[in-house]
Amino acid sequence: MKTRIFSLMIVLLVLGCGSAMSQSTGNPVTDLLLSAWSPRNYTEVPVTDQQIDMIVQCGIKAPSSRNGQPWHFTVLKNEAVMKEIISNITPGNVIIVISGKVSQSGATPDFDCGLTTQNMFVAATSMGLGARIYGGPIAAAREKRDALQIPEGFTPVIMLRVGNIEKSTDAVSGASPRKAKEEIVNWVR
Ligand SMILES: Cc1cc2nc3c(=O)[nH]c(=O)nc-3n(C[C@H](O)[C@H](O)[C@H](O)COP(=O)(O)O)c2cc1C
Repeated sequence: MKTRIFSLMIVLLVLGCGSAMSQSTGNPVTDLLLSAWSPRNYTEVPVTDQQIDMIVQCGIKAPSSRNGQPWHFTVLKNEAVMKEIISNITPGNVIIVISGKVSQSGATPDFDCGLTTQNMFVAATSMGLGARIYGGPIAAAREKRDALQIPEGFTPVIMLRVGNIEKSTDAVSGASPRKAKEEIVNWVR
């Protein structure tokens, strides 16, 4: 009896998490934003150049301070170089290195690079691909600026890994929880 109650609780918990992750708001964009997550496990099915081209186009469309577009995109497909930057990279993945340009005062390259990265994260997710942002190994990308052919005046800020998702993990088991709304939102009326 105890085991049945425990099993029922697990089922309800999973269903509850599932509906939270895949809730339908009737709007495809908000549905996507509410269900997006950052997979760590990928298959070796290669991401195509056409997919990357579309993802980068969506990145280029991001807003930026004074429309300065202080970014450069390096599409890295070389497996050996990728491995030196993200050691557990899966063959077939692509890393997009987003570099920012420090220029006139008032420019906000890091912030703008974040916006373009999020655009590309959302685009990749909407295409059924997995995407994960990487800032931890950025020093390795900076060290490899010559191999990555980063243009003069630009510095790697952040990276986006894109791949085909290993289906054994999903949004319910793979995504990280968020803080409660009550903890982090205040309204002033
Ligand atoms: C600026 C930034 C840097 C990040 N750097 C790393 C990283 O170095 N390694 C990593 O595994 N994930 C990294 N992430 C991914 C976050 O850990 C992930 O977005 C967060 O845990 C939420 O996960 P979820 O989208 O699966 O819910 C980074 C995310 C951001 C926005």
